[in-house]
Amino acid sequence: MSKYNITTKRLGLRNWLPSDEAPFIEMCQDPAVMEHFPSTLTPTETLDLIHKLKNHYNEFGYTYFAVEVLDTKEFIGFTGLKNQFWESEYTPCIDIGYRLKKSAWGKGYATEAAQACLQNASLKFGIEEVLSFTTDTNTASELVMKKIGMHYVGTVQHPAIVGDKRFKHCVVYSTLNR
Ligand SMILES: CC(C)(COP(=O)(O)OP(=O)(O)OC[C@H]1O[C@@H](n2cnc3c(N)ncnc32)[C@H](O)[C@@H]1OP(=O)(O)O)[C@@H](O)C(=O)NCCC(=O)NCCS
Repeated sequence: MSKYNITTKRLGLRNWLPSDEAPFIEMCQDPAVMEHFPSTLTPTETLDLIHKLKNHYNEFGYTYFAVEVLDTKEFIGFTGLKNQFWESEYTPCIDIGYRLKKSAWGKGYATEAAQACLQNASLKFGIEEVLSFTTDTNTASELVMKKIGMHYVGTVQHPAIVGDKRFKHCVVYSTLNR
């Protein structure tokens, strides 16, 4: 049986493995990767995130999947679907998220992985609507949302960025043209 839940031409998306921990800790400590988030993550915070993502996978069958390049088996970050419960007019919902190590940027990987996740969201997981959120500063992330066919629906104050002067709000995209 394949270890991948989803494959694309170049990428394999799967549950998290112990071998992902060290490279994921490294990328979550990279200020460039975390530029549009409140802060970089400590190793403990990153391990806690992996733990939560694995539990989510076990409960729902989907999560922010670990992403591997099929040719090299290199772990490059995550892309996937996750239930969101923080308080706002758009939640609870299921969102799509992506975070890749810097050396993997600019190759179309996020778009390729996210497109496959959206296809699986409806076909495999029966999800009717997927939302996506990113800070108003994150042009690359917003471009990915547009490239995978999502529609702009508005803005929202994510609790994690309230009081952070770098960010005005998060933009919200949906798979549905609301
Ligand atoms: C957002 C992210 C996942 C995109 O990954 P990627 O594999 O480079 O994305 P893609 O190559 O599929 O597409 C990115 C698009 O944004 C463009 N782009 C990249 N950086 C950009 C920047 N700083 N300003 C404007 N556009 C940018 C790329 O040119 C590309 O558009 P194009 O195909 O029209 O040329 C990656 O930058 C990342 O991991 N960032 C850090 C984590 C993060 O912010 N995640 C999103 C949180 S919501």
